[in-house]
Amino acid sequence: MMKRDEIIRVPQAELDAQRQFAREFSALPGRPRTYYIVTYGCQMNAHDSEKLAGMLEDMGLTPAAQKEEADFVLHNTCCIRDNAERKALGNVTWLKEIKKERPDMLIGVCGCMVQEPGMAEKLLRQYPFVDVAFGTGNIHQLPELLFRAADTRRRVVAVPEEQSTLIEGLPIRRESPFQSYVTIMYGCNNFCSYCIVPYVRGRERSREADDILREVEGLQKQGVKEIMLLGQNVNSYGNDMPGGLSFPKLLRRVTETGIPRVRFMTSHPKDLSDELIEEMAANPALCRHLHLPVQSGSNSILNAMNRRYTRESYLEKVEKIRKAAPDVGLTTDIIVAFPGETDRDFEDTMDLVKTVGYDSAFTFIYSPRVGTRAAEMPGRVDPALATERIERLIALQEEMTQMRFAEMIGRTEQVLVTGQSKRSEKQLTGKTSRNISVNFEGSAQMVGQIVPVRIAAASKTTLKGETEKGA
Ligand code: 5AD
Ligand code: SF4
Repeated sequence: MMKRDEIIRVPQAELDAQRQFAREFSALPGRPRTYYIVTYGCQMNAHDSEKLAGMLEDMGLTPAAQKEEADFVLHNTCCIRDNAERKALGNVTWLKEIKKERPDMLIGVCGCMVQEPGMAEKLLRQYPFVDVAFGTGNIHQLPELLFRAADTRRRVVAVPEEQSTLIEGLPIRRESPFQSYVTIMYGCNNFCSYCIVPYVRGRERSREADDILREVEGLQKQGVKEIMLLGQNVNSYGNDMPGGLSFPKLLRRVTETGIPRVRFMTSHPKDLSDELIEEMAANPALCRHLHLPVQSGSNSILNAMNRRYTRESYLEKVEKIRKAAPDVGLTTDIIVAFPGETDRDFEDTMDLVKTVGYDSAFTFIYSPRVGTRAAEMPGRVDPALATERIERLIALQEEMTQMRFAEMIGRTEQVLVTGQSKRSEKQLTGKTSRNISVNFEGSAQMVGQIVPVRIAAASKTTLKGETEKGA
C-alpha cells in the first residue's frame, strides 16, 4: 500500500501551466483543428478518453467524424492481453498510409501499452510516424506534449517511471448526458500473477471522498441518472487513507446525493466485505449487479494466480450475497489455460460456473505478459486445447444465461433507456438495474429516462420487452 504522503496530487500550478499551453496551442498557425480518439480496453480507459477529449476541446480542437479525416488521431491503448496490443499497433500502422497523403496529420499513442517497460523505445525505433506518445501517469500533460509536437514538428515522448499521481480537476467531455463514470481510485496492489495492470497503472491511490462527492453532486444537478464508480479493486477503496470512509460508507454517501442509480466495478472477491453485502441489500439506489471475477474454479490454479481466496471461500461469499440480496445478478471474468491448468482444474471451473449461475461471464484464454510472474511459469497449455476449453465454457455460460433470462420473463423491470436501435427509430434499448440489455418499442423522448418495461421474451444476449400502457 502506498503511504498517503508518497502520493502526489498534481498541483494546481501544473494544471494552470497546462491551461497556458492549451491557450498557446490554439494560437499556433496551421495547428491541428480536429481530433479523433480510438479507445481500447476497459471502462477506466474509456473514462481516460473522456478526459483526453476534454483537454483537446479546451485546446480548441473539435471532434472529427472519421479518423482518416482528423488532424490529430490519438490511440488510447490497452495491454491486458497480447491481442489488445496487436490490434492497437496494427491500427496505428494502418494510419501510416493515410499520413503519406496527409503529412500534416499528427498521430498519438497513449494509455497502458505505452506505460509498459521498453514500449516507448520500441515506438521511437519501429514507429517513426508516431508523433506523440505518453503513459497513463501523465495524461494531464497532453496540452504541453501536443503543443510541442505541433510547434516543432518533432516527435515528443514522455512516460513517467513512477506512477504516484492523483490528478484532480481535468476537463471531462462525457460521452453520455445521463450515464457517467466517476473514478474513485487508481492503480492496483494485488499482483495477480498473470496481470500487467499493477505494472502499468501503479499502486493503489484513492481519491479523497470530498472530491468524489463534489463530482457526483455536480452530475446529479445536471440530471445524470446513473453513475459507475471505477477502480481496479473498489473494495480496497480508502485503505491508503486510514480513518477515512470505507467503500460501503462511500457508496451510502454517493447515493445520498440523490443519483437514482449507482454501479461500481471491479470487486476483488478477497476484499468483498459483509459490510458491502449489507449495504447492497439495504440501499435500493445501488444497482442489482455485482461483477465478481473468479478467474478459475480450481484451488491450485487460484493459488498459482495469487488470487488469495479459495473456491470454497468464493462460493461462501456468493451464498451470502444470494441470501442477503437475492435479486442481485452476478457476473464474472474467467481465464482458461493458465499455465499448468489440467483437465481436472478446468472441470472445477465448469462446475463452479454451474453452481453459481452467473448472468454472464467474460472468458479469456490466458495470454503471457512480459514481466509478470505467470509468464515464467511452466506448463503452457496447448493452444488447440485452450480453444476447446473456452468453447465449452462459453457454451455452458450461454445455457446459464438462458436460464437466468427465462426467470425474468413476465417481470416488470426499471430500464434506463440508453438509445434507439440502429435498425428502427421506434426500437429502444436500455439496461435493467441488473445490467441486462432490454429492447422494446417506445418513443425517442424516453431516451435518458428510467421507465418500467415488462419482459416478454429473451434472446441469447438480450431481453425483449414492452412498455406498460400509458408509460
Ligand atoms: N491473460 C488473459 N486474461 C487476462 N486478464 C487479465 N490478465 C490476463 C492475461 N494475462 C483478464 C482477467 C481480468 C480481466 C480484466 O482480464 O480475467 O479480470
Ligand atoms: Fe489485475 Fe488482479 Fe489487480 Fe485485477 S486485481 S487489476 S486482475 S492484478
